[in-house]
Amino acid sequence: MSTWNAHLHTAVEAARKAGSYQRHRFTSQLNVDLKGDKDLVTEVDRESERLIVEHLLTRFPEHTILAEEGEYPQDRSTLRWIIDPVDGTTNYAHGFPWFCVSIGLEAAGEIVAAVIFNPIYDELFTATKGGGAYLNGRKLGVSGHSPLKNSLLGTGFPYDCATDPANNFDNFIAFQKAARGIRRAGAAALDLAAVAAGRLDGFWELKLKPWDVAAGILMVREAGGMVTGFDGAEYSIFNNRIVASNGLIHAEMTAMLAAVARNESP
Ligand code: IPD
Ligand code: CA
Ligand code: CA
Repeated sequence: MSTWNAHLHTAVEAARKAGSYQRHRFTSQLNVDLKGDKDLVTEVDRESERLIVEHLLTRFPEHTILAEEGEYPQDRSTLRWIIDPVDGTTNYAHGFPWFCVSIGLEAAGEIVAAVIFNPIYDELFTATKGGGAYLNGRKLGVSGHSPLKNSLLGTGFPYDCATDPANNFDNFIAFQKAARGIRRAGAAALDLAAVAAGRLDGFWELKLKPWDVAAGILMVREAGGMVTGFDGAEYSIFNNRIVASNGLIHAEMTAMLAAVARNESP
């Protein structure tokens, strides 16, 4: 019985509430705004966040909230909920059924509870610190695939990839040559959940935000995987370069990223 089970339970309720709403509105006519050249936000992102925050604060009124779409006071408590109300907004807005709710709970700087919910596939990923990771109640473990050439990887590209040269294209080319394949599915939290579930053997991306990764990094670690920065050093949710893997291909992935950065990739 984890210390964080009651928190997890409340987060699951919040994720399911927002997920039902997302399923109900999926492919309906949406109000869509642009945050940047490519970066969309829909009324469903905002309403999902409102539903989640309201649910969490009803149960834990003193807790801090860090969420993608709103501004919240950051000095209330050392317990902080880190929320992506819809991870995969571009998919959602285009009717591509691959998106999720992602909620992580941070206690004194460490993620201790995590929920990632894909409402279309009805897949609920949960984890608590020291308590393991689960998919719809079934315990998860990372894959046993290695080396890199036998591995399936996930990644993504930042919204400003046309204007900023830190766009991940060079890494993509190097890994596409070296690995069995790469998937770019459009929801970083689901990519991390896929590493935890052994569906992907590794994942890397840059310029992600804390709400993209907070829940996913605990999911991967609790499933027996590894999460670091590109340099292989300890990962913080504010580090914008992440590598997650089954552990077996981690050194090969960080070595490849280092070679690309030195312009020496094979
Ligand atoms: C995005 C997705 C995507 C990743 C982007 C993220 P959003 O989040 O996770 O896979 O490549 O960098 O910003 O905008 O759909 O919440
Ligand atoms: Ca996101
Ligand atoms: Ca989002």
